[in-house]
Amino acid sequence: MEYQAKELFAKHGVTTTLGTVVTTPEEARAAAEEYGFCVVKAQVKAGGRGKAGGVKLARTPDEAFEHASNILGMEIKGLTVNRVLITPATPPVEEYYFSFLLDRSNRQYLCIASVEGGVEIEEVAKTNPDAVKQIPINPGSGVDTDKAREIATEAKFPEAVFEQAVTMIEALYKVFTDEDATLVEVNPLARLAGDKLEALDGKVSLDDNASEVRHPDHEQFEIKDETDPLEAKAKEKGLNYVKLDGEVGIIGNGAGLVMCSLDEVNAAGGKPANFLDVGGGAQAERVHQCVELILMDPNVKGLLINIFGGITRADEVAKGLLTAFETVDPNLPVVARIEGTAAEEGKAMLEGSRIVPAGSMREAAAKIVELAYA
Ligand SMILES: Nc1ncnc2c1ncn2[C@@H]1O[C@H](COP(=O)(O)OP(=O)(O)OP(=O)(O)O)[C@@H](O)[C@H]1O
Ligand SMILES: [Mg+2]
Repeated sequence: MEYQAKELFAKHGVTTTLGTVVTTPEEARAAAEEYGFCVVKAQVKAGGRGKAGGVKLARTPDEAFEHASNILGMEIKGLTVNRVLITPATPPVEEYYFSFLLDRSNRQYLCIASVEGGVEIEEVAKTNPDAVKQIPINPGSGVDTDKAREIATEAKFPEAVFEQAVTMIEALYKVFTDEDATLVEVNPLARLAGDKLEALDGKVSLDDNASEVRHPDHEQFEIKDETDPLEAKAKEKGLNYVKLDGEVGIIGNGAGLVMCSLDEVNAAGGKPANFLDVGGGAQAERVHQCVELILMDPNVKGLLINIFGGITRADEVAKGLLTAFETVDPNLPVVARIEGTAAEEGKAMLEGSRIVPAGSMREAAAKIVELAYA
């Protein structure tokens, strides 16, 4: 969220104002009493807050109270606003856009910069793409002062703020690399009265793969009440689960096989409700947990199990499925395709149960889609 991004900015010397995060209109009023003319900003993990009415200027504490009342509880792009940030109002003279991101397809970093930033940046990118500069960054050599100058020149930062921009670019690159981010975005990077540059907004995506070992401190940025409850539950149990918005629940072993199952369900005309990799060597208890988790999603209308036994033994999976269905009665169709290690034993165990067998992954996908949407 913006207020967290700004904490990281401050840590690495990017000029910004932290402000105060509050959850009630009363607290907003109190913060506004301290700041005077201020801005009340919705804190949600989505862009376009300003356009959605989630960013408002307040001249008095009462006005801050009023805006906070309206913004708290508001929905922006499907996300409920539970927090607002109060910062001193510093109206920009000019607004620039600046970001560093991981450019996976080109195996490098990319800097995107424009002197026509602000809430219309998407529109500028469409109608006047030349105004939005894309500058590739070699991750090996990174961004030193020379490269920062090159970027500032290419982006056409005006003379009056040029040196500040160079310093800012170097500091933002430190946020990007030192924190193992995949995105660092500032929009607007504002030119304030007196030609002062400041990050008035911020967005940072951190690479989860780096959090456990390299950045145990990143755990502080996780906001428990903002995480999808099913994903939170999965994380607690150490399950590899991603919630999707379809109706066919899916369990498979191995990320590749699960991705393939999602594709097959889509191809058969259905929509997957989740990604769930039960992992290698899955034991019955784990399979049981997976089934329980998926069935907590009220959208699920059918369950597809796709197991190719390798290290994972198919009979262990079958055992897990059977115990799961003893305690949770999903009352919805379940189709299983089981192959590989101990497949024959596994299939024999499922015989006579409510689980419909399928010979191939494609057949299984077609069957579950037929049954789930019947
Ligand atoms: N501290 C401030 N003082 C005055 N105006 C501000 C301040 N912060 C933001 N604004 C104005 O509000 C606009 C929108 O704010 P901001 O960019 O933070 O939210 P946003 O609309 O969600 O942006 P994005 O779409 O990039 O997420 C800014 O472009 C700027 O003009
Ligand atoms: Mg913005």
